[in-house]
Amino acid sequence: MEEKTVYSAVQPSGDLTIGNYIGSIRNWLPLQESYTCYFAVADLHSITVRQDPALLRERTLSLAALYLACGVDPEKTTLYVQSHVPEHAQLCWALNTIAYVGEMERMTQFKDKSQKHADNINMGLMDYPVLMASDILLYQTDLVPVGQDQTQHLEICRDLAIRFNNRYGETFRVPKAHIIKERAKICSLLEPTKKMSKSDENPNASIFLTDPRDVILKKFKRAVTDSDNTIRYAEEKPGVSNLLAIYSVFRGCTIAEAEKSFEGCGYGTLKTAVGETVADALEPIQREQQRLLGEREYLLSLLKKGAENARERAEKTLISVYEKIGLLRG
Ligand code: TYM
Repeated sequence: MEEKTVYSAVQPSGDLTIGNYIGSIRNWLPLQESYTCYFAVADLHSITVRQDPALLRERTLSLAALYLACGVDPEKTTLYVQSHVPEHAQLCWALNTIAYVGEMERMTQFKDKSQKHADNINMGLMDYPVLMASDILLYQTDLVPVGQDQTQHLEICRDLAIRFNNRYGETFRVPKAHIIKERAKICSLLEPTKKMSKSDENPNASIFLTDPRDVILKKFKRAVTDSDNTIRYAEEKPGVSNLLAIYSVFRGCTIAEAEKSFEGCGYGTLKTAVGETVADALEPIQREQQRLLGEREYLLSLLKKGAENARERAEKTLISVYEKIGLLRG
């Protein structure tokens, strides 16, 4: 049987939150055992909003170190930086010619970001989903582990793959999103119906993967719950449900087990327990990330090897696409 391929990426556009970890990176780890995996640092995506160049470079390396610290195994997967593989931008150009302006304008993320960065509604921002589709389709991907906010982009990616295949003949595998329902949308600690986001203006709304223990405990203590004081996972209790979801991930138990372990307890107990569990889990990741960042040369060589590996596969897809659309080979 042909091996299945997994692709995912995160933008180095700010400090990552536990939302990024729970909704995405953590779900990559078990897939490494039985799939061919490509995990990228999506630096080209991040420049669709203004970045400080020096900081972006540091964040890119720091995110690669974080992947490794979280458990991405460079022996089993291909870990690389998106801009090191020029085929991403090259495929994007070809896919742009079958992507319609109208469908890009309808993307929720484009609308949100256009509002937030009203002085910089650039072409890249609108083209973001086409570049993301290029990332995925270059590797003939089967599964894309992401959080819920990416489902619309995954749909567009599938549409573009199908549209291209229909027009030019079977070329791309049509990928599927790999989403774990209870983990797909970790919410803000202060507005628990809203997604926890690395770009939230209030730092108390998010737990960053770099937050020290005392900050984590304090933020969970301030988390918004409700006045009912019973600890259960329910739609009408978004704050408590969010805390239970976070707890269950870091404890490695089910949500039902988490509910059971807090039977008869008050919200104060829950908040302290979640804070301590998260702080305990993040501590070794933070330590390992710092250790790796001290080994810059090793990281850079790993990323170089990763990009070479990625290019081998990417090049094949790109050549076949360029041939199909009629570009003369030199
Ligand atoms: P980014 O950097 O915005 O988010 C990275 C991943 O984290 C998930 N995520 C969440 N999951 C659960 N709860 C949350 N509060 C939360 N916040 C973020 C996102 O769904 C995402 O999976 N466009 C992508 C990066 C990308 C990509 C790709 C992903 C570029 N190319 C190809 C997959 C395949 C993004 O938004 O990253």
